[in-house]
Amino acid sequence: MNSSPWWKEATIYQIYPRSFFDSNGDGEGDLPGITSKLDYVKSLGVDAIWLSPFYTSPNKDGGYDVANPRDVDPRFGNLEDARELITQAHRRNLRVIADIVPNHFSDQHEWFQAALKSKRGSKERGRFHFYDANEDGTPPNNWISLFGGPSWTQVEDGQFYLHLFDSTQPDLNWENPEVNADFEKTLRFWIDLGVDGFRIDVAHGLIKEDVLTNHPDPQGLSNALRLDVAMDSDERNALLLTVPYFDRQGVHEIYRKWRKLFDSYTGREIMAVAEAWVHPPVNATRYVRADELHQVFNFDLLTAEFDSDVLFDVVERSISLNATVNALPTWALSNHDSPRVASRIGDEQARALALFVFGLPGSAYVFAGQELGLPDGQLQDSDRQDPTFFRTNGAIKGRDGARVPLPWGGDTKPFGFSTAKPWLPISQSWKDFTIENELADPKSSLHLYKNALELRKEFLVGAGGITWLESSQHGHKSDSLLSYSRGAITVVMNLSDSTKECDAEGKLLIVSGGTVDARDGKKVIPARSTAWFLT
Ligand code: GLC
Ligand code: CA
Repeated sequence: MNSSPWWKEATIYQIYPRSFFDSNGDGEGDLPGITSKLDYVKSLGVDAIWLSPFYTSPNKDGGYDVANPRDVDPRFGNLEDARELITQAHRRNLRVIADIVPNHFSDQHEWFQAALKSKRGSKERGRFHFYDANEDGTPPNNWISLFGGPSWTQVEDGQFYLHLFDSTQPDLNWENPEVNADFEKTLRFWIDLGVDGFRIDVAHGLIKEDVLTNHPDPQGLSNALRLDVAMDSDERNALLLTVPYFDRQGVHEIYRKWRKLFDSYTGREIMAVAEAWVHPPVNATRYVRADELHQVFNFDLLTAEFDSDVLFDVVERSISLNATVNALPTWALSNHDSPRVASRIGDEQARALALFVFGLPGSAYVFAGQELGLPDGQLQDSDRQDPTFFRTNGAIKGRDGARVPLPWGGDTKPFGFSTAKPWLPISQSWKDFTIENELADPKSSLHLYKNALELRKEFLVGAGGITWLESSQHGHKSDSLLSYSRGAITVVMNLSDSTKECDAEGKLLIVSGGTVDARDGKKVIPARSTAWFLT
């Protein structure tokens, strides 16, 4: 079955270009490297790729510090390579989603360089958030950057500029119409080059209100806003309700304009997905109202425990809230900002959860390497590159563990990723996780993903809503089973450490680990495992 438009129930594979495949032996992945591996990507059964930034950048924040949003950084290749990547992807019927970073530029962007050279109150400074110091010389407010340390940096004439992230990432002033005009130019530039959609970085951050107001717990807030800092969920949610610089109403005006721009490309079905981590969850649905964006990430699964009540709530809430605006949810278990799911909840659990979410309505996002069951890379502090590590003096280790390059094949590190020393070290223990090895092993995580995505396409895409069969509120109310039916498929996840019987009927299609037995007319689901049955 095919759903229309293409993005509605797509599976989207996130590629972190620096870590995917190095084509020219400098230790860093690049665009021609991705192009050369598109057959692999296609073989996974995904519909689209989302490329993390590859634009001109001093790379202080993995390329999310953009110095020229309409060009390719030489470390990744050039514009011709980008064009070729898009062409080759389309040839394989893979769509391409580019990452756009509207909250800030790099301090190396010509606008910021001009602002530094201009006077306070100038047009050049008006594109960013420049403010005078307080009378006692302190920064305009007490906000802490999401990467740690103050959100303000002082320039030569004494003014401070705002940066919610690194000091090399000055926030743009979206009250200034020049800013939107420039971004619309960037959107058109990439659409004209052939991209099919955008992932919008920090989509909820563009409008700042109350810039001169202090926050009662700026450090707590900064921690709460990080996916890689563990925190009690009630504590986190309470803090997330108090963010003064995210999710202001004004952001929606911007996306309404962008939506018109996307829709003006008739016949292209250009889509956009918002990175908007907002609280309460109902607020996320505002980003996907009919005249705004197409999808919004649901971050809950990136931090949720492997617990049936927690997962039931996350799934049910996401489906029902999105339904209020006629949208479908998105599901992501890993990304470049969070610990890899296999490390966070365990290897078998990660497979079980993946098979569980692949059955759900909406779009599934898979972070490259997740299909292999990769754990986080083990790094020494001397290897680390994430600005968070430096800005917190090592107190927060940062996100490099999820960004270690992919192991492709062979017996010795760096397992075919590069002929040189990779930018982050790959450990010898990844030998069993190589794509080559997993392709040869029918029981591998890679085969589970390939088989599941094929079955998803065959039986589930376009199959409508789910009916819960087992949860804390349905069926036998067992706390170890979660189960739903959708179309002709019944999905059962056993979250416990022992086998569990269930009433599911039909023929076994796939199981995430172990074997499903039958006993007294019931199915016996292995521990920490999910199975799909065809009725
Ligand atoms: C987003 C990106 C993250 C980046 C940050 C600042 O959260 O996913 O990698 O550091 O924005 O641009
Ligand atoms: Ca390279």
